[in-house]
Amino acid sequence: MIRGISEKRWLIAQQYQHSYQQQKSLRIHGYENNIILGRYIRAMRVSNLLSSFLTITDSTRILEVGSGPHGIGFFLNTGDRYGIDSLADFYHHKFSSLQVGSKVKTICGKGEQLPFRAETFNLIICDNVLDHTMNPELVIKEIQYVLKKNGILFLAVDIHCWLGYVISLIHEHLIGRWIIFKWFGSHPFYFRYKDILQLLNRYGFRIAYKDSKPLSNKSNKAQSVFRRLKIGLWKFLFHTSCSQIVCINLK
Ligand SMILES: C[S@@+](CC[C@H](N)C(=O)[O-])C[C@H]1O[C@@H](n2cnc3c(N)ncnc32)[C@H](O)[C@@H]1O
Repeated sequence: MIRGISEKRWLIAQQYQHSYQQQKSLRIHGYENNIILGRYIRAMRVSNLLSSFLTITDSTRILEVGSGPHGIGFFLNTGDRYGIDSLADFYHHKFSSLQVGSKVKTICGKGEQLPFRAETFNLIICDNVLDHTMNPELVIKEIQYVLKKNGILFLAVDIHCWLGYVISLIHEHLIGRWIIFKWFGSHPFYFRYKDILQLLNRYGFRIAYKDSKPLSNKSNKAQSVFRRLKIGLWKFLFHTSCSQIVCINLK
């Protein structure tokens, strides 16, 4: 069982997320079309992957948990789409140019307490969110509850090697009592692959597809020696990859 964190720690993670997104909104100003294109391509890739498991039509009920400023759901062509994010109101205001015209109904709320009835959705998307939440175990439990039987969960999550996992535990449970380092700021959890598989298993999900690819921590010669060393150290310690999992709710 994955133990949740305190609300105080989660609010710190949210502050990190808030300031990261605030800076991003300034950085992308004038380049919104590039972002829209990138996100559209990603949404189409995910949609292609999912097409082997379900057909998305206008009546397919889709929920994105942690929909962020420009989650996958905003760029799908069809579906009765909902997004929930604890910072949804802020995103609605700051990233209106990316969300305008989108038919996603966004709600400000938490994945640990989804305001929907049992078996409401055919598809739930949770993309790079689980390790930012207060209680990932509860989020998966809630997802299972609002997902229809045989409904599909698309989960993308960062995966770390055992060393990264142990360092993050030491940080969260010892050092983090006094100081939260920036590297860990918005990520209260560092998962190993087996943690995620066991978690899904506990709530009756059958894994139908999984892949894993290294995160692109690009290092090139144009970067300073210090930056390249920092990226090298990060890779050595944490060995991060992004895992995409499609699973079926069997309960
Ligand atoms: C790294 S962002 C990813 C956003 C989006 N899925 C994407 O890929 O662009 C993580 C998001 O999860 C949201 N989040 C964190 N904890 C949450 C919770 N307990 N319930 C709902 N959303 C949460 C954050 O506000 C943030 O928008």
